[in-house]
Amino acid sequence: MKKLLLVAALFCGVYSAQAIKIIYGPYLQAVTDTEATIVWVTDQQAMSWVEVAPVDGTNFYNVERPKFYQTYLGKRVFGTEHQVRITGLEPGKKYCYSVSSKEVLGTRRHRLHYGDIVTARIYGRRYPGFNTLDPKKESTQFIVLNDIHAKQEKMDALLNTFEDGKTEMVFYNGDMVSQVPNVEILFNGFVNASIERFARQIPFYLVRGNHETRGVFATKFLDYFPTPTGKTYFTLKHADTFFIILDGGEDKPDSDLEYYETAVYDQFRREEAEWLKKVVESEECKSAKHRIVLMHMAPIGGKNMWHGPKYSGELFLPILNKANITLMLGGHTHRYSYNKPEETGANFPILVNAHNTAAKVNINNNGVKVDMIDMTGKVVKSHIFR
Ligand SMILES: [Fe+2]
Repeated sequence: MKKLLLVAALFCGVYSAQAIKIIYGPYLQAVTDTEATIVWVTDQQAMSWVEVAPVDGTNFYNVERPKFYQTYLGKRVFGTEHQVRITGLEPGKKYCYSVSSKEVLGTRRHRLHYGDIVTARIYGRRYPGFNTLDPKKESTQFIVLNDIHAKQEKMDALLNTFEDGKTEMVFYNGDMVSQVPNVEILFNGFVNASIERFARQIPFYLVRGNHETRGVFATKFLDYFPTPTGKTYFTLKHADTFFIILDGGEDKPDSDLEYYETAVYDQFRREEAEWLKKVVESEECKSAKHRIVLMHMAPIGGKNMWHGPKYSGELFLPILNKANITLMLGGHTHRYSYNKPEETGANFPILVNAHNTAAKVNINNNGVKVDMIDMTGKVVKSHIFR
């Protein structure tokens, strides 16, 4: 009898109990013209991979598709947070993918013992694929939300500005949550809503706000929001537009008691400024028709400016002022403001989106059109930049 129970327990253990599950994702990150990263989280330790196929009319199972793994120093790694970079893609092409995680039941010396596999298939009629960025494209549409502070009602209402088949990118311009005491707050705060609405097929790019720097899990930012540079500042090129995404760090001086001796953002900004100098000298930047900067804390406010945006302005504006910038998009103040070049130290306009509007940006031959749309869907402000 005892033997029978043992056999039954083993059977249940293998086939029914606690199968590995994907608890968050998958979602797209760091999509460029030639690469993309897929991120997801499982409830058990697992070795993971992504299979990718062009959307070219052939069935996903037409041939064996290339597999991409998360690797570190030449080794495939396992864990519960999965971040797989897909390389070698072509600009402006559509791709679909499938993610798989094989449970690692245990390790003994150099050996790994594997269990079940869980898969999420992002292809077929329901998921028609994602597009790589296309620098040569003539037009695009993207939306910008900021200062959501994990408010679901606001998030849902403003994501109604997302247009299927038209919106190609989403920028979250900082403070999507108020702090990061755990990773669940990121998913419950805005990532899950993004996945439900678009993020399996359209990328969002998170511009780090000062609130995303707070909390003990804030240092895991790049585990969930990887970027093409491996830093929280990076560039993108799409639709003849060069995007510069900047990280302004915290708002108060580094020595402020609120940061508990952890802040070194002045040094961080100086390193970022050195990177920015090279960026504005690049051919990619110079040759684009438009140059758009996204930064959560724009350097506006004159004498009322807090240390963070003030020092960012001192470092970044002299560099950006030589780069023929079309527009800077900011957030942080929670209020709309349009700051003409002569009102700031910048020689380009700075447009600040409110916490309760989405900025819908259409770029085409007529220029860069920005519509601020409120939670009821009404356009409350419009600007065109050329
Ligand atoms: Fe902020």
